Amino acid sequence: MDNELSIGHLVDSVDGPPATLDPTRFNRHTFWCGQSGSGKTYALGVVLEQILLQTQLPLLVMDPNADFVRLGDVREETAPDVAERLAAVRPRVFRPRKNGAEQLTVKFVDLSLRSRAAILRLDPLRDAEEYNLLLHLEAESGPETFDRSTFVHRLRESDDPGMRRLLLRLENLGVLEWDVWAWGGDSTQTVIDERPRATVLDLGGFKTPDESKVAALAILDHLWANRESRKPVLIVIDEAHNLCSAEPVLPVEVALTERIVQIAAEGRKYGLWLLLSTQRPSKIHPNALSQCDNLALMKMSSPRDLDELGQSFGYAPHELLSRTGSFVQGQALFAGGFITAPAVVQMASRLTYEGGSDVRVPL
Ligand SMILES: Nc1ncnc2c1ncn2[C@@H]1O[C@H](COP(=O)(O)OP(=O)(O)OP(=O)(O)O)[C@@H](O)[C@H]1O
Ligand SMILES: [Mg+2]
Repeated sequence: MDNELSIGHLVDSVDGPPATLDPTRFNRHTFWCGQSGSGKTYALGVVLEQILLQTQLPLLVMDPNADFVRLGDVREETAPDVAERLAAVRPRVFRPRKNGAEQLTVKFVDLSLRSRAAILRLDPLRDAEEYNLLLHLEAESGPETFDRSTFVHRLRESDDPGMRRLLLRLENLGVLEWDVWAWGGDSTQTVIDERPRATVLDLGGFKTPDESKVAALAILDHLWANRESRKPVLIVIDEAHNLCSAEPVLPVEVALTERIVQIAAEGRKYGLWLLLSTQRPSKIHPNALSQCDNLALMKMSSPRDLDELGQSFGYAPHELLSRTGSFVQGQALFAGGFITAPAVVQMASRLTYEGGSDVRVPL
């Protein structure tokens, strides 16, 4: 097949023939796992570059450590014809504060009612009045005048005690101060609706951790609400345990995990395909894990984690799983629909630059 993704070479064959993935199988969810430093983020970048080169599949990368913000910067050693094709992609990079990039902002009214209530820690019965106000917020907020001060003024001047209670809640939670809100301006959600070839969301640079979760939740809620458009997108979530925890605690975390589990269970037919990367299988919600038909596994030393992987991914042979403990950096076991047969691969070199890099010991 012409569009195969060339990701490195097979480790077990004498002459190390090229290893390839079948891009058409990214219409299933993928789980990517390996202990810290095993090379997940680097190797994931190799696969994403190939997807950009060989397919038209739009990528949406949720990037907690700004590792992919340079996905558009081609390395000098990359062959000129490949470099030219990659350079033409021009990923849209959204960051919390501009830093020369586009600003990552979302609209509160684009969140599902359940997510809005989670952000404000509202209970539909206990906080009936405020919850009901939230229900009707959308209709009232005209886009052209919808900025922070107008909104606060409206709440403050209202005769309705519920409105003033809502304002107190917003102020006490600090929600009104967040940089993540688009208010009446452009939001990142509408850009994603257009399905750029690659969109990178730098989720790490917000002032509060809540904001990065809310940004992810708003984007995923919006994708889900518009799922009937059936425009495919590969949703890549690095450090996925942050957003799809096995044990979510805060209401926003519960809402996020539920949304991702729902996309894992039902998103496939709408073209919402997940790639979840994390260090340990037990950190991800089991109902998302169990939906993954593709597996990439890098160095994993913990026997307990390997047992769990063996149970969740019956298609990964035990003999290969047991070898992952001795993998060197850049080696990965691939199994599932996107590879012809389970195999150990030495990953190729990156064609673009990595963003965040390890902090070195000063000498
Ligand atoms: N195949 C490779 N070739 C060259 N350098 C690599 C390779 N794989 C990883 N590295 C380097 O090793 C370091 C760790 O890799 P990486 O960040 O991908 O690990 P990780 O598994 O994502 O770790 P964490 O779970 O902590 O995020 C990085 O500095 C990266 O540049
Ligand atoms: Mg990483």
